[in-house]
Amino acid sequence: MLLYIHIPFCDSKCFYCSFNSYTTLFHLKSDYMKALHTQLTEELKKTKEPLKSIFIGGGTPSSIEAKLYNPLFETLQDWIDNTTEITIEANPNSTTLEWLTHVKNLGVNRISFGVQSFDDTKLKFLGRNHNKQQAIDCVKLASNVGFCHINIDLIYDTAIDTKELIDNDLNIIKTLPIDHISAYSLTIEEGTKFYNRPEVKIEDIDMASYIFDRLCSFGFSQYEISNFRKGPDSRSKHNFGYWEGEDYLGVGAGAVGSIGNQRYYPTKDVQAYINDPLMYQEIENLSTDDKKFEKIFLGLRSLVGVPMSLFNEKQKKQIEILYKEDKITILNDTLFNKNFLLSDEIALFLE
Ligand SMILES: C[S@@+](CC[C@H](N)C(=O)[O-])C[C@H]1O[C@@H](n2cnc3c(N)ncnc32)[C@H](O)[C@@H]1O
Ligand code: SF4
Repeated sequence: MLLYIHIPFCDSKCFYCSFNSYTTLFHLKSDYMKALHTQLTEELKKTKEPLKSIFIGGGTPSSIEAKLYNPLFETLQDWIDNTTEITIEANPNSTTLEWLTHVKNLGVNRISFGVQSFDDTKLKFLGRNHNKQQAIDCVKLASNVGFCHINIDLIYDTAIDTKELIDNDLNIIKTLPIDHISAYSLTIEEGTKFYNRPEVKIEDIDMASYIFDRLCSFGFSQYEISNFRKGPDSRSKHNFGYWEGEDYLGVGAGAVGSIGNQRYYPTKDVQAYINDPLMYQEIENLSTDDKKFEKIFLGLRSLVGVPMSLFNEKQKKQIEILYKEDKITILNDTLFNKNFLLSDEIALFLE
């Protein structure tokens, strides 16, 4: 079982982001953390085993005073053992030595920074409120505090990306004490500032391949279309768990939980959540076909692969073609995609 906890507060709203986060509700932070605790206590009744992974994401978890996390961790003690991966997201502008030290002492063993780029012009273009130096400093600070597992998020496929800009970013990345990178192709989301400016996104598969190859030359290996790891124990158990179809608890406004064939959605409205943290806005029942499609989609995008037993006879004939074209391999009755950048194309072909 995995656990996701959502923090719906951000200091500013990035131009591309449609995640459930608010910049005007800071007065609700303390009440929100109490509500989280109420829902967490209830959700934990759904599992008896220690949690494989906990992910505190957002929004911006580093915008919450570190000691406000204490009650959550007191309650979590019985569900954590020394194998539990505990990740927290942080933004470069709100990461401090005190905050990092406090969350580390609570048991957090992995930190994920929303860096996006080390180029000041690109950061402004994306609507980020940090600069290159803050991004470099927060990673070094986390390493000095003793975090061995550090991720940075990056965004590529933006209209202002040039080879020079990407190379400068990669040269900085090479020198940093990080063991994980999540590199996302920019997507244009409804309700964001970029929604009316779709030209800010470009699709450049050659540039994506170039970034992936260079990351691999620094010792990273790609285990999902957007995820790269370096060194022992660096694969994100949390992400991998999602792709493998593990059950997860979802705690917080705008979080999602998934148990068996059911998805449940607490409300996205922060005040409504505080008023009643135990009420789900929606419970969705997934059909066997939905689950099958999801397994194929996620399996093609990652090293999880897809069990051959999921495919029907018609699909198996298509798979023979893909095999001849050297696009896939089959190992232990599981299909693996050789180039994650082609996953959507292959999924369509197999539909
Ligand atoms: C929900 S954010 C939370 C992390 C943290 N708040 C931050 O941004 O610093 C997780 C990551 O999703 C990625 N992301 C969010 N919206 C995106 C979009 N429209 N296109 C590509 N990546 C996106 C960003 O890389 C971001 O760091
Ligand atoms: S990308 Fe991160 S910091 Fe920016 S608005 Fe989204 S959640 Fe907040």
